[in-house]
Amino acid sequence: MNSKSEAFMTIGAAKGWAEVGQNHPHESAILHVLGEATYTDDIPEAQGTLHAALGTSPKAHARIISMNLDPVRAMPGVVDVLTYKDIPGTNDCGPIIHDDPILAEEKVEYVGQPMFVVIAKTHDQARHAARKAEIQWEELPAILTPEAARDAQSFVVPPMRLERGNAAEAFKKSKNFLKGTLHVGGQEQFYLEGQISYALPKEGNGMHVYCSTQHPTEMQHVVAHALHYPSHAVQVECRRMGGGFGGKESQSALWAACAAVAAAKLRKPVKLRADRDDDMMVTGKRHCFYYEYEIGYDDNGLITAAKVEMVSRAGFSADLSAPVATRAVCHFDNTYYLSDVDIRAMAGKTNTQSNTAFRGFGGPQGAICIEYIVDEIARNLGMDQLDVRKVNFYGRNDEEGRNVTQYGQKVKDNVIHELVAQLEADSNYRERRKAVDAFNATSPVLKKGLAITPVKFGIAFNVTHFNQAGALVHIYTDGSVLVNHGGTEMGQGINTKVCQVVAHELGIPLAKVRASATDTSKVANTSATAASTGADLNGKAAQDAAATLNKRLREFAAKTYNVPPEDIVFAAGIVYAGEVTTTFADLVAAAYLARVQLWSDGFYATPGLSWDRASMTGNPFGYYAYGASVSEVIVDTLTGEWKLLDVNALYDAGNSLNPAIDVGQVEGAFIQGMGWLTTEELWWNKSGKLMTHAPSTYKIPAVSDCPDNFNIRLFKNRNPFDSIHRSKAVGEPPLLLPFSVFLAIRNAVSSVGDHKVNPPLRAPATSEAILDAVEAVKAKVSA
Ligand code: MTE
Ligand code: MOS
Repeated sequence: MNSKSEAFMTIGAAKGWAEVGQNHPHESAILHVLGEATYTDDIPEAQGTLHAALGTSPKAHARIISMNLDPVRAMPGVVDVLTYKDIPGTNDCGPIIHDDPILAEEKVEYVGQPMFVVIAKTHDQARHAARKAEIQWEELPAILTPEAARDAQSFVVPPMRLERGNAAEAFKKSKNFLKGTLHVGGQEQFYLEGQISYALPKEGNGMHVYCSTQHPTEMQHVVAHALHYPSHAVQVECRRMGGGFGGKESQSALWAACAAVAAAKLRKPVKLRADRDDDMMVTGKRHCFYYEYEIGYDDNGLITAAKVEMVSRAGFSADLSAPVATRAVCHFDNTYYLSDVDIRAMAGKTNTQSNTAFRGFGGPQGAICIEYIVDEIARNLGMDQLDVRKVNFYGRNDEEGRNVTQYGQKVKDNVIHELVAQLEADSNYRERRKAVDAFNATSPVLKKGLAITPVKFGIAFNVTHFNQAGALVHIYTDGSVLVNHGGTEMGQGINTKVCQVVAHELGIPLAKVRASATDTSKVANTSATAASTGADLNGKAAQDAAATLNKRLREFAAKTYNVPPEDIVFAAGIVYAGEVTTTFADLVAAAYLARVQLWSDGFYATPGLSWDRASMTGNPFGYYAYGASVSEVIVDTLTGEWKLLDVNALYDAGNSLNPAIDVGQVEGAFIQGMGWLTTEELWWNKSGKLMTHAPSTYKIPAVSDCPDNFNIRLFKNRNPFDSIHRSKAVGEPPLLLPFSVFLAIRNAVSSVGDHKVNPPLRAPATSEAILDAVEAVKAKVSA
């Protein structure tokens, strides 16, 4: 064998070659660790670049009587100060409903609302000057909590209601009954890279905006509207984000618009970069929810009737609050069949930041409530929580008649029974339950808790038309390949996965494929990279483009080597055409000379989706992703301190495109969801000022908060839905896995009252909240 032929495989091996399903590292992993990955703030600044800062409202709700910006203008380095009057087009950055001013006009509606933009020679000069405005106010009453919004009937969108069966009748027939309330707090996205936009004016009224965003197309639209430019004059580009987590789906718009308006007026490049406190004060977060629930159930724990009212804290404008509430309604069932339900959801208009997307997008808020309820049913009946969960699971098949969701979609891919059975065995759940009870029997202060919780999460945008994507694949004459697609990279590995799909389709090693920055001038009219659909949609679109190219090259090789096209095999950069073996690069070079088109676009639209907003029914999801986890904690019942001891989780990523990346996504989502439910507390003072606006007061999980035994595995499965290589989405659903951490804490607290009393534990279960629950249990037991 000569050295060249060593790379060749047998035809059998070549046919089995695959670039999908492999544990490739993130395409930027090396750049990340070397600090060489370019984020928006790392782009070398063009000559004359100016820096902007926002002047924000100190009032939660007030009319602006007068605003004197002369002291701001007088500050060193200040070049200009802009208000809403300087916006040539529309003063709005609302993604759906146009109630979201870029800069406040006559009134302000939350502490932190942007009122003016200072442009100065340096970032620090702009920030210092922004504090010098002299404003006279007429203060107005402020609404701060979801309950207050509901009482005042103050909503950003009309209330929603979804009924199935007849809950009122079913309650009458129910053997047992419980009711309660629950508070679940919001969450700051806490992306490591804050909001940033860098706008460069281009010739002939053009604008190029580098923006850290999950939604370049929407940024293009908002900037075009604000400047009163046509869309073709605005180019938005994002190579990567240092995290988005939903916080850069719509809320990057304000920053893009302010930078662009300033750049257009001054004809200079303008950069607007938020520091952490401003970012937290200005932008929206995960919605907190308040629930009132009533449940009927039988002696086996089967839920026979359910009624819930949920109110979210939407903030001062609609933003994405309506779709977030819709997803909450569509995830209230989680893995459980609910025959007779009455679900109401309201998005409370409050004088706080306008809340927005955050990993799970209302799904976690819908499902946490039913998990809290199932936990109570188990306690009331003296049953193990796992047994109550199993009784309520969706059916395994049609015959059981328990597989239609409350919104009318049939659950055809249910694997929760098998998945939970595997986790129950792997985690030694039953033995550990006994061990925890034995520990608690002899430990008066330190109490252990154990919980197991399941997840079912619908994959697709509820709004059908968002489920489309495009891609552009170029093969250069040296055989290297450049991919551009509509998705954005935020660390989740979408580029790695899309490149794997393209490499696989063309039969070349992943190293030959590079992803370019997401750019509105390459692929147009894209959807947000959100709803966990990024790899699903853009993977399919890129596959479509690559398949077209593969077909062209195959036909060219067939003609050239006189072999039927279907007999030609492309694998690992080698082309096997009967007796002839050649490299992909040589074939491409020859195809170029023969004038074969070596680039292609691709498109994908998810089939079979429908959604009727009025009745809240349809087939909003292509498929469901499943998972479950077991968590064990130890709680100090005198201080409220606790520690997560052990986690076992199983997640259904289908036929995973990249198991290493998917396990990383599950780990990250788990810890992020745990932070939401335990330590991350957003706290507004009586004047409506968010006081937890920096890591000094807002506690995200650290490495030391990870459990010693953090055992995450992927459930072996193949997506019955025709998804990209039969994989399943992984971005958001695992955020629901740490429900088991929250309920393990509740379980530990419950042991204080010998599991006779339902601990009223709120989320986040901070040490203070845990102590409140312990005291409440003790008070009830001694009463
Ligand atoms: N992972 C990292 N590292 N950073 C992020 O910002 N965002 C999450 C999830 N995983 C995020 C992440 C959210 S909110 C979504 S919707 C998905 O990634 C989006 O990417 P995907 O659809 O390609 O999975
Ligand atoms: Mo994710 S919350 O859908 O950006």
